[in-house]
Amino acid sequence: MAATLKQETIQPFEAGRLALPSLTFEQFDLPSTNQRLLGAPHPEGTTIPLALRPSSPGDAEPNLDTVIETVKQLQAQGGILTKKLAVHGTLLFRGLPIHDANDFSRFAHAFGYKPHEIIGIVVNRPLLAPNVAPANESPKEVLIYNHNESPQVPHAPEYIFFYGHRVPEKGGESPMSSSLELFHRAQQEIPEFINELAEKGILSRVTYKVDKQYAGGSTLKQAFGKEIQEGDDEATKRAKIEAQIARYGRGKYTTWEWADDGIVLTHKLPAIRTQPGTDLPTLFTGLAAYYKNIQVNGKGRNVTQQLFGDGTPIPEKYLAALARITDEIRVLHKWQRGDVLVYDNIIAQHGRQPWEGEQSDRVIQASLFDGEKVPGAYIDEDWAQVVQALEG
Ligand SMILES: [Fe+2]
Repeated sequence: MAATLKQETIQPFEAGRLALPSLTFEQFDLPSTNQRLLGAPHPEGTTIPLALRPSSPGDAEPNLDTVIETVKQLQAQGGILTKKLAVHGTLLFRGLPIHDANDFSRFAHAFGYKPHEIIGIVVNRPLLAPNVAPANESPKEVLIYNHNESPQVPHAPEYIFFYGHRVPEKGGESPMSSSLELFHRAQQEIPEFINELAEKGILSRVTYKVDKQYAGGSTLKQAFGKEIQEGDDEATKRAKIEAQIARYGRGKYTTWEWADDGIVLTHKLPAIRTQPGTDLPTLFTGLAAYYKNIQVNGKGRNVTQQLFGDGTPIPEKYLAALARITDEIRVLHKWQRGDVLVYDNIIAQHGRQPWEGEQSDRVIQASLFDGEKVPGAYIDEDWAQVVQALEG
């Protein structure tokens, strides 16, 4: 199971310009507080994020159609932007002519990915434009620490787009960090934990209630009830919910227990997965966020419980170590209005810093997509391989 870090398989791309005759995406530097050089196994000199801005001949204001056309052409050339994401983890686009959810939706769709359907949603996410919803709207004081999106359920997106529609003056940054680097560091510093995690995986218990569990939370019907109709009796409702759960395609590795006020799902999942194309191990997890949520925000807000795959608790010292390493390898994105961040969710983690001012001072929209491939298995066990969810 020892993972050889095949550094030669993850290659940087030539720096500089990604161009069409009418528009160029030009690389630029951010202040050192907002950008850093990634450690191993990333190639030397790789920044997170890779910051790009459009530039047109004669400095004409770029128009959205040209931007979209450029993105499509770059993606048609062997997925140039997708490959950049797989190396840098996160891209920042600044200075785009994006002003609302519809512009953002069109830009995000230009990458050519398939919109991600959230199965088993735990937050209420109203649709603002095709495949665009508000990012997590918890109160501004709440810290959302670094995590890969949806590690606690079997169906996770591969790409996450965030658009800064309104940005606060102080705070509200979006952190970013590499899950490849996190794995690498954790394997060096807490190898016994990594071995145990690899061998046992994670048991994730997610509670869904008929009524929402907190402000901004979802109901069971929002989570799994899309086929439920007015007048369905209890047995029909349950059967329809179970049919949605079956779409995860996890067989015996997803079980559930009905209660009077809802249902508890238990997933056995791999926390270490591999990056398609390089087979590098990536720590695909929300464990540091789970830990910080309890430390910083208080116990009440975790609707999931995370254990080792054999049901034993994960010692807190390991969770604390993951958070410490993440503190050392993460960087905070200071938002400017109109910024778009794109995360490769297989290898990069995101989150949200608290901010000062009004709740409404920070409006970030999100758009989630599936990739062509899901991450690979780190060990040769059935449960360690995640699958694409079934259509339905
Ligand atoms: Fe998230």
